[in-house]
Amino acid sequence: MLNIVIFGPPGSGKGTQSKKIADEYQLMHLSTGDLLREEIKKNTSVGKQVKKYIDKGELVPDAIIIKELYKQASDHVDSPGFIFDGFPRTIVQAEMLDKMLGKHNIPINIVLNIEVEEEELFKRMMGRAEDSNRSDDKEEIIHKRIDIYKDQTYPLINYYKKQDKLVNINGMAPVEKVFEKICHAVDTYKSCKKIVHSV
Ligand code: C5P
Ligand code: MG
Repeated sequence: MLNIVIFGPPGSGKGTQSKKIADEYQLMHLSTGDLLREEIKKNTSVGKQVKKYIDKGELVPDAIIIKELYKQASDHVDSPGFIFDGFPRTIVQAEMLDKMLGKHNIPINIVLNIEVEEEELFKRMMGRAEDSNRSDDKEEIIHKRIDIYKDQTYPLINYYKKQDKLVNINGMAPVEKVFEKICHAVDTYKSCKKIVHSV
């Protein structure tokens, strides 16, 4: 099994790269953001609960996220591995994930940290706003999402560094170039269990 966590600020390309990684390594792509947006679209009770957080650019409470993720993951236990996109977002979520996987003796193998400068993030998200139809791709909400990332998600870098799983990826390059770097890190891990710390 191969389990990858991909994280980085909003607009860093997590979703785009996750799809490519899932294709390349036959992994199940679990995007908590997509899951939540789907619930909102279907107007389910979870959707109604989470809409107010997403619209404001705030994080949905850990308990709701963990339940959603667990539901999805248990539906796909036969998968050769997972790519967790947009989860964990907080230390509590990371600890829960370790616990949940630990029970089945499944480790997280690699954590990809996509690094992109703030100005570029903002440019990308404002650029995609027209097509994305996302309620949170708006100027002031984008600022808030970046702030929340710095405050609550960024500390995860240290959490995974301590576990020696962190790979820093320069995400300023074009999509294909970033993907090449990711593949280099994943292939190195697959062939000799070595973490490439920076690509
Ligand atoms: O991951 P993505 O950028 O698609 O997430 C969009 C929004 O979904 C976040 O800004 C947040 O409101 C919510 N979310 C969350 N917790 C997660 C993933 C997404 O609160 N683990
Ligand atoms: Mg995403």
